[in-house]
Amino acid sequence: MSLKTKLLIALDGPAASGKGTLARKLAEHYNLALLDTGKLYRAVGWNVLKAGGDPENEDDAVAATKKIPTTDLSNPELKSESMGAAASKVAAIPAVRQLLADFQRHFANNPPADKNGAILDGRDIGTVICPDAPIKIFITADVETRAKRRFLEEFGNTGSEEEYRTILEELKARDTRDVNRATSPLKKADDAHLIDTTNSDIEAVFEAAITYVSSKE
Ligand code: DC
Repeated sequence: MSLKTKLLIALDGPAASGKGTLARKLAEHYNLALLDTGKLYRAVGWNVLKAGGDPENEDDAVAATKKIPTTDLSNPELKSESMGAAASKVAAIPAVRQLLADFQRHFANNPPADKNGAILDGRDIGTVICPDAPIKIFITADVETRAKRRFLEEFGNTGSEEEYRTILEELKARDTRDVNRATSPLKKADDAHLIDTTNSDIEAVFEAAITYVSSKE
């Protein structure tokens, strides 16, 4: 890949794998436009709940998806694990995925002129949204490690064993839903580079990612 070619990085992985942090670091390092696609699904979930609807109901979820252009994606309420669960439920509805797909592909293929390309993070970027992306990374870690990280983020050193167990169960439920849904399940693309972060800190993960990106340039 020459420097003149726009970069496109597809980054997928389960909840709390460190995807978001890695995406932000890669976006900054390579000067890429970044789309956290989980935020789109979280915003749909938020719209459903705000309207008093059911995230598993197709009509409610589709109506909520149509409101995305006017939804504030920077709302801090989107970050909670309960919104992650709502997102994972609306994300299992094919019509919702269909409605969000064009926006994601447009973002991937039309980075602003002052950017060197785009990076999208999610669950199906390398498999469905951008199957031709030249650079694909699948980041993961065992579920206990991911739960511990999420627990420390939320509670610092003040959390209880029970709160840790709750987060662990929530992440397991989300993994099960995301991996087993019929449409665009969470799955490593065959040609994605696997990074397991169970025993690595973010700096080591970032180094592994840029080594892989350099090997493709
Ligand atoms: O990455 P995240 O935790 O913010 O994602 C929230 C949920 O949204 C996730 O559990 C499943 C869904 N999602 C998806 O199905 N496809 C994507 N590309 C991104 C997120």
